[in-house]
Amino acid sequence: MSSQSPLYTSITLPCGKSLKNRIVKAAMEENMAGDNQLPDRNLLSLYRYWAHGGLGMIITGNVMVDRHAMTGPGGVVLEKDTPIDSFERWAKVIRSGGALAIMQINHPGRQVFKAVNKTAMAPSAVSLSMGRFSKQFADTYAMTCEDIYAVCQRFVDTAVKAQQAGFDGVQVHAAHGYLLSQFLSPLTNQRDDQWGGSLLNRARLLLNIVCQIRACCGSDFAVMVKLNAADFQRGGLTLEDTKEIVSHLNKLGVDVLEVSGGNYEAPAMQGRTGDGQALNQHAYFVEFASQIAAIAQMPVMTTGGINREASARRVLEQGCQLVGLASALAITPNLALKWQQGSPQAEMPPRCTWQDKTLASLVTMAMIRRQLRRLGNDLSTQPAPSQLWSLLQDLRHRKKMTRRYHQFINQ
Ligand SMILES: Cc1cc2nc3c(=O)[nH]c(=O)nc-3n(C[C@H](O)[C@H](O)[C@H](O)COP(=O)(O)O)c2cc1C
Repeated sequence: MSSQSPLYTSITLPCGKSLKNRIVKAAMEENMAGDNQLPDRNLLSLYRYWAHGGLGMIITGNVMVDRHAMTGPGGVVLEKDTPIDSFERWAKVIRSGGALAIMQINHPGRQVFKAVNKTAMAPSAVSLSMGRFSKQFADTYAMTCEDIYAVCQRFVDTAVKAQQAGFDGVQVHAAHGYLLSQFLSPLTNQRDDQWGGSLLNRARLLLNIVCQIRACCGSDFAVMVKLNAADFQRGGLTLEDTKEIVSHLNKLGVDVLEVSGGNYEAPAMQGRTGDGQALNQHAYFVEFASQIAAIAQMPVMTTGGINREASARRVLEQGCQLVGLASALAITPNLALKWQQGSPQAEMPPRCTWQDKTLASLVTMAMIRRQLRRLGNDLSTQPAPSQLWSLLQDLRHRKKMTRRYHQFINQ
């Protein structure tokens, strides 16, 4: 019965690669890199669960294009000179159950913890405003044109290496307030050169990166983009802006556009906006993605809050072609298989209930990352882990990862 649903039909992307169904594992930074910020045995064990979990496509957690700019201390780094044997093993594991293997590639811009990197480059010297947590973030400086060209080249180099390692494609992360999203947003991009001002100028870096990856990796490599439907902050990127960016991406042969939203200051990807806009609690961005799909010339996927098969079906009914799941797959890695087999509803992902919203967001992430580490160690997941213990464990793990990262940088 369930297998008759459009969720379980295949789809071929513009590059010619096919997914066996419409259910995609969205990117989740694992913060589990091994020595030298490379994928190791535990990371591969984690991905083996997803590889055999009935998914059509698996997008890795964000991989850093620059070892000096990290979203977290346990991030995987892939640069021009990085040896690729561990990445080859990673791609092989991901593809072992028939899913497409996509590497998400990212630069954090200003969203960097000071304990990891003291300074951070961004379109403009606008630091994060996170109340009493602001001091925890790196000091931001404005990029020169040379910095911008160099970062563009880094994205291209990382994509080329991902292709060499056997990945089916890359996803350029231009959402969630990281560097490319900072260029797009008028709140963080206050430049008055060709990289700032008009929306086309603010989108120039993203468009250049996509164009150059396509030119270097060829027409049969999947090039995907993750974009915010909006920043969900007053004065930030709007849905109309995003539609205009999509009209430019339409000309570049993008294979999939993933619609998300928010950033560290306004974490809409966790269902909370900064401007009071209400989100659909069963699929946060589905109404936005539906409007974007109406003008997009590539398949559209949306991620955020989707934990039930009925919500996933509704996403397709509203005009999207793919459905992204993240935290639900940290608890039930074979959720897609369970849905397809008509199994009873799986556990909901844990959410922190604390009053302080920033702390609650950190604890929710900590609880989910703890499940990723458990899977990496072949332990069963916990749908309702202790909030305080998860936070303490996460802090201890981050400390260990930070120490190891600094050894790597200083070697
Ligand atoms: C632990 C964790 C790590 C994440 N890391 C990334 C990431 O590396 N790249 C990204 O685009 N989104 C990342 N996200 C956001 C998810 O991809 C997704 O957009 C968000 O969690 C909402 O989807 P969900 O409700 O299915 O979890 C992360 C989410 C979690 C919980």
